[in-house]
Amino acid sequence: MILMKKIEEYVRSIPNFPEEGIIFRDVTSVLQDKEGLHLAIDLMQETLKDVAFDIILGPESRGFIFGVPIAYNLNKPFIPVRKKGKLPCETVEMEYELEYGTAIVEIHKDSIQPGQKVVIIDDLIATGGTIEAITKLVKQLGGEVVKIVFLMELEGLKGRDRLKEFDVSSVIKYE
Ligand code: PRP
Ligand code: HPA
Repeated sequence: MILMKKIEEYVRSIPNFPEEGIIFRDVTSVLQDKEGLHLAIDLMQETLKDVAFDIILGPESRGFIFGVPIAYNLNKPFIPVRKKGKLPCETVEMEYELEYGTAIVEIHKDSIQPGQKVVIIDDLIATGGTIEAITKLVKQLGGEVVKIVFLMELEGLKGRDRLKEFDVSSVIKYE
């Protein structure tokens, strides 16, 4: 019998990175193992099996890693959400708070049509600030967020509280 490792076992945890007191959950250890990569994509995709939607959005850069294969598998388009200044056509943008300072994300104005059902995919939710900003962009363009999927959730940071009105799934939960 082949014993399958659980997805949790592929995540490497690094104490005191990037700062003293933080345990960093490293997604690269999942990606660099072919079984880990398969499992992560399959488990995230599984949460979408009963969800009707039109497009997948994923934020730069780790949201791209998981959003694109799932969009490809489910035969949906993928919309990249980028940090400010990278997209060449007309955009809408939203500022959000980081632990220190602020950042701005943007998407092309023509990437979401009014009424489209949108799934947002990312590797991890910490404070929820990034995804909250993206939900506002979707709303601004007339889209409807029908599901948000993460590989990992840092529950202690209560990011979910900022996404109360949405259907949120995470595959691995850390306290
Ligand atoms: C990380 C992570 C999420 C976000 C989570 O991305 O991939 O997108 O932070 O944090 P939050 O819930 O507090 O908003 P980061 O902005 O570090 O960019 P990267 O993927 O390019 O490393
Ligand atoms: N891992 C990866 N990205 C993160 C983390 C983490 O623990 N915390 C905030 N962003």
